[in-house]
Amino acid sequence: MRFDIISAVPDLLTSPFSHSIMKRAEDKGLLQVVIHDIRKWGIGKNKQIDDYQFGGGAGMVMRCEPLAGIIEQLKSEREYDEIIFVTPDGNRYDQRMANGLSLKENVIIICGHYKGIDERIREKYVTSEISIGDFVLSGGELAAAIIVDSVGRLIPGVLGDETSALFDSFQDDLLAPPVYTRPAEFDGMKVPEVLLSGHAAKIDEWRYEQSLKRTKERRPDLLE
Ligand code: ADE
Repeated sequence: MRFDIISAVPDLLTSPFSHSIMKRAEDKGLLQVVIHDIRKWGIGKNKQIDDYQFGGGAGMVMRCEPLAGIIEQLKSEREYDEIIFVTPDGNRYDQRMANGLSLKENVIIICGHYKGIDERIREKYVTSEISIGDFVLSGGELAAAIIVDSVGRLIPGVLGDETSALFDSFQDDLLAPPVYTRPAEFDGMKVPEVLLSGHAAKIDEWRYEQSLKRTKERRPDLLE
């Protein structure tokens, strides 16, 4: 799977994909993340990418021409399944959307800055508008990194069986159960007996009950 991320602050995106699971996914050739500096498509000798809002108001808006330039170039090189704009006024991101995206081949993510991007780019090119939550970030880069990370780990072969995404929180609308490692006793606190029993069916049952309990307490909306 390939992500092309269009950004005005590309340096923000170098680290998230250079470590751990994302790096392994890239090394295995299962995930490719290409970052594009929108400023290369900027206008004039100052490489301008933003301008004042028509109608007045504080904050700059990203102009159409640089965004259209890079999007048209990418579209001429391959077919894209999805062109995403990450924005606080988009549809709220969740695991279901991550699952859907993990089935795609080529995806563009546009990161907004300032007051956002000219509405005509959204109308002409964008197929999906995504918010990662009800709060406002300084730009779309961290939102894009979250989407690529959460989708990347779902691509078949990225995670081994033992860490399979099938057991993640949300995958079955339940939060994950508590986990423990050695030592069996820490500061007087013992690991639940059942986990030491070696009885697989009882352990599964305990984990399910704990998942249900945690979900009821913390996220009852998931059970509705
Ligand atoms: N850009 C700024 N805030 C955002 C958010 N909450 N989700 C996605 N993109 C954003």
